[in-house]
Amino acid sequence: MEKGYDVISFGAGQPDIPTPDHIIEAAKRSLDRRFTGYTETAGIYKLREAIAEYLNNRYHASVDPDEIIVTTGAKTAIFVVIASYITPGDEVIVIDPAYPAYSEATKLLGGIPKFLPLKFDKKEGFTIDLDKLEKMISSRTKIIVLNNPHNPTGAVFPPKIVDELMRIAERHNVILLSDEIYDNFIYDNAPFKSVSEYPDWKKRAILINGFSKTFSMTGWRLGYIVAHKEAIERMIRVAVNVYSCATSFAQEAAVEALRGDWTPSKRMIQLFQRRRDVIYEELSKVKGFETWKPQGAFYIYPRVRELLNKLNMSVEEFVDYLIDKQRVIILPGTAFSEVSGEDFVRLSYSISEERIKEGIARIREAIEELETIKLRR
Ligand SMILES: Cc1ncc(COP(=O)(O)O)c(C=O)c1O
Repeated sequence: MEKGYDVISFGAGQPDIPTPDHIIEAAKRSLDRRFTGYTETAGIYKLREAIAEYLNNRYHASVDPDEIIVTTGAKTAIFVVIASYITPGDEVIVIDPAYPAYSEATKLLGGIPKFLPLKFDKKEGFTIDLDKLEKMISSRTKIIVLNNPHNPTGAVFPPKIVDELMRIAERHNVILLSDEIYDNFIYDNAPFKSVSEYPDWKKRAILINGFSKTFSMTGWRLGYIVAHKEAIERMIRVAVNVYSCATSFAQEAAVEALRGDWTPSKRMIQLFQRRRDVIYEELSKVKGFETWKPQGAFYIYPRVRELLNKLNMSVEEFVDYLIDKQRVIILPGTAFSEVSGEDFVRLSYSISEERIKEGIARIREAIEELETIKLRR
């Protein structure tokens, strides 16, 4: 049965809620004051102060405003860091599956991404094989990328893993690049440790974060890098030649985001936790989906290997069938992994509980259809 054009999308990489009003008002005030010129490349001092304050209050990070660069989104931050640290032929270790920008930026810059597959177990969830990771380090390895909480799996890697990654980075003299853009999307009080919590962390790690997710500001294009002063100087050279500075009035609004009322963000995160519960429960009823309950971000990443084997379909064919026949959008794991993407699908739960239920019911219906088609053949 076709569903007309009532498309239910589990594809979104952004909150379905607009930027809170007080942040929008701050941008308007900034524009009214005609704050429309270039700013310092590193970002306006007041914003860097507010970022340092956030990190120091939350993580005791010992960050100084001079150790921060404001970027046009965390994505630009990823590019700036990688561009500052690799030369052609250098290697970047990426825990796989991953947000694609780490490996794509590496390749664009002539580097070689090396993928470490996450282990998956329906009970344990997604785990990092640290021995394997350490063995992958070569004389050309410059960076290990950690994304915690993790897109696309929703995993929150436990503090002892971050401890070990810091030690490995130290032992092998490589940089641990930690993308913590989902650091406010953590559920069930899952233990989380930022790299910025370690004493002297800037010797080994570089932190990336941003405003897109926590404050629903994806279109504003604002992120940041935190690193030691020397690294910042090196990265400023890239930043100044790529984007000059982040948008002036967006930066002023971001000060309000950090220092103003967090109630809208907190409410949104509670809402996401409820949606996480709903989507997990609904997906657990889908035959052939092996679903683990994530504790972070707003994604869930079920394994569908056995189902696809049974249906004799590739993950892309399955996802296309859902769009064509049921008007449901989910993403194939291949969008996040060259290694294990064929076995997984990603669903974002950035839609209402009702739509989640309706969407998963459609997926169930599609699987039943596919099974009967197969039986008839
Ligand atoms: C893990 C991760 N890092 C970075 C980004 C990029 O965010 P921004 O909008 O700040 O560029 C995303 C966006 O989806 C993401 O999932």
